[in-house]
Amino acid sequence: MEQEKVTLEILGRKKETGEKITALTAYDYPTALCLNEAGIDIILVGDSLGMVVLGYPNTLKVTMEDMLHHCRAVARGNASALLVGDMPFLSCTVSVADAVRNAGRMIQEGQMEAVKVEGGSEMAQTISAIVRAGIPVMGHIGFTPQRVLRSGRQRVRGRDRGSVEKLLGDAVAIEQAGAFAIVLECLTERCAKEITEKLGVPTIGIGSGVYCDGQILVTPDMLGLYEAASFKHVKRYADFAGLMKTAFREYIREVRERKFPGKEHSFE
Ligand code: KIV
Repeated sequence: MEQEKVTLEILGRKKETGEKITALTAYDYPTALCLNEAGIDIILVGDSLGMVVLGYPNTLKVTMEDMLHHCRAVARGNASALLVGDMPFLSCTVSVADAVRNAGRMIQEGQMEAVKVEGGSEMAQTISAIVRAGIPVMGHIGFTPQRVLRSGRQRVRGRDRGSVEKLLGDAVAIEQAGAFAIVLECLTERCAKEITEKLGVPTIGIGSGVYCDGQILVTPDMLGLYEAASFKHVKRYADFAGLMKTAFREYIREVRERKFPGKEHSFE
């Protein structure tokens, strides 16, 4: 049966009815095809691209051109999921006008249907300008990898009351700016619950516990493809790296032993 196209309205309704929203990242065409077949609600072309595909140590080197290239590949494989493109480092913090232009490129050139902007209340004005230009925005608070040089690698947020109040303020400011959903990254479960109950828009958690309206993971992490990542919040649903290495070793052995190609792979 063909999947219904996921819209912002459908996501809002899921929050109201309590049906969980599912999201995963993708960076290429075949993964987008598989995610569609599986029936995912949201595909995020994340700037985690930098680590899990391009081999950088963090997200800071990812450019608009990198993002657009991978967004287009994912869009070609998508039919029903809502497509969200991550705004990379510096693409929406230099000026508001620059942010609107870059968000527009994500839609026009990257064929995305929404953009994700990292940051708290300091990004509210920018989010509001992008939304006014007609582009849906997903917020992202808590651990925000693009601020890693300033905020350090300490991931978990919302452990004390002061921090919870700051995150609540950020979430409300972003919602008021017009965001249709907010990613909560590495918040304590209690903090994420408080924010989720306060907001009218859905929260999508990563490492933020079960009370969020939806969940997202970085796909190569959950597939066990990107072995460098071993975060507490990641559940490994498969061992893709193991499968790949087994297949590669078998191919190498068969070629060396002249077992591949066989008659069935050859032309008379
Ligand atoms: O870049 C990314 O993949 C993300 C997710 C971790 C939410 O921002």
